[in-house]
Amino acid sequence: MNYRASQGNIYETTADTLIVNLFAGVTEPGGATGALDRALGGAIREMIANGDLRGKEKEVGVLYPRGSIPAKRVMIIGLGGADALDLEKVRRAMALGARRARELGAKHIATVAHGAGAGRLPLFEAVQATIEGAALGLYHTSQQDKDIPGEIETLTIVELDEQKMGEVQEAVRVTSIAMEGVYLARDLVNLPPNIATPRYLAEQARQIAAKYGLNITVGDRAWAAERKMGAFLAVAKGAGEEPQFIVLEHNAGRSDLDTVVLVGKGITFDSGGISLKPAEKMEEMKSDMAGAAAVMGAMQTAARLNLPLHLVGIMPCTENMPDAHGYHPADVITASNGLTIEIISTDAEGRLILADALVYAQQYQPKAVIDLATLTGACVIALGEHVAAGLFCTDDWLQDRLVASGKTTHERVWPMALWDDYKRKIASLVADMTNSGGRFGGVGSSAIFLKAFTNYPWAHIDIAGMALMTKKAQETPLNRLGATGFGVRLLVDFLRKWQP
Ligand code: BES
Ligand code: MN
Ligand code: ZN
Repeated sequence: MNYRASQGNIYETTADTLIVNLFAGVTEPGGATGALDRALGGAIREMIANGDLRGKEKEVGVLYPRGSIPAKRVMIIGLGGADALDLEKVRRAMALGARRARELGAKHIATVAHGAGAGRLPLFEAVQATIEGAALGLYHTSQQDKDIPGEIETLTIVELDEQKMGEVQEAVRVTSIAMEGVYLARDLVNLPPNIATPRYLAEQARQIAAKYGLNITVGDRAWAAERKMGAFLAVAKGAGEEPQFIVLEHNAGRSDLDTVVLVGKGITFDSGGISLKPAEKMEEMKSDMAGAAAVMGAMQTAARLNLPLHLVGIMPCTENMPDAHGYHPADVITASNGLTIEIISTDAEGRLILADALVYAQQYQPKAVIDLATLTGACVIALGEHVAAGLFCTDDWLQDRLVASGKTTHERVWPMALWDDYKRKIASLVADMTNSGGRFGGVGSSAIFLKAFTNYPWAHIDIAGMALMTKKAQETPLNRLGATGFGVRLLVDFLRKWQP
């Protein structure tokens, strides 16, 4: 879909479908809705007076102008109470409106920056949320939404005030590029693990690098062995697919810019290894590369937006498979910084591949490193699926910024403690640490494990409960069954606002 900005009166646009909004309790709409209503001879007020339109959340009203304006249909999306409006409500309302428009056969939608007027949301963010809502809501796999008459071709944000056009245009540009990053992440996570192998992910990264001018390094087993990445290689030992350690770099060599490193867990399938997972729901473990997918999406976006940062994206990718050559519980392995790790569970593989990636990040002397990983079921137990990701952070500024970006994007992250007490849980008799702290506090012990491999301001984001929507009952207008692309918008918002 194409996203555009256009100046003028919404009722004069030539789109086949107009989408305006209504707050709950409003009987005399103002702004674009009011202007459109007047152009329609009071049709919207009539719907309100008849009780056909209440402005409630999830409400989508449709009316037919029958020649009184160029558009074929008008849709009115409910935003709920004006006082309770936030960006997420705009996203959800727009998602429902756009999806309904598509069902009705719309090809060209014209709409406004929902919430920027009476809702008092900042204009840039309102435009962003409007586009995000449409894009997230309209996303589907090849097997979803098969009964739609076709795709929406253009979405135009119409702004009356000429003075504001620059800002609207910039918000449209930034958001449409970011949404392609989210689509990329969703597509990668939705792919089956026999297709989205480490080599496939490396090929995707190469294409992105070639298209948008990023530097790329892809390391295989031999490359990792030269660098003594014993933790990454231990997980890869049982893998039939060649592991790939992928590094994308934006603005490489620009020592005048701040360096930020993103790290994403790229387990293309997590069977648990010798510590085999139960068969039930094991198929969900195709999403164990969602951290890498989010980093890929964020790197593509950062490059296309030409963000003034030296940005490195590290994606250690491998399967975790049971195999005669696989690593065993009780093995002692050595990570690339020399720390030894006693394997308790081959299913605690994410922290192992991240360990070598976090050590690899040290060479850049970064101002911040952020890793995203579907790391622990314990995090899902603590925070709930699709509620918030767990955040562990060694730097207050970094933590505050990530929490703020989480709030803005509604890709929420919630601070959890990095107490040294968790170290006792991973104490080993035969190595510097074990790779599993057991059931209680499992999210804390995984984070304190990772911390041993960092020497820079660092944030670890456990996205285990956020990457894949698996239950109908948990669906939202923005995240339906399948991959969510969680993390891309969070990272892009954080990076765009980087200002240490
Ligand atoms: N990939 C899983 C974590 C996971 C669980 C992701 C649920 C998404 C949904 C991870 O590799 C894992 O198996 N973690 C173990 C760690 C334990 C063995 C210490 C877990 O959480 O049970
Ligand atoms: Mn695992
Ligand atoms: Zn895993």
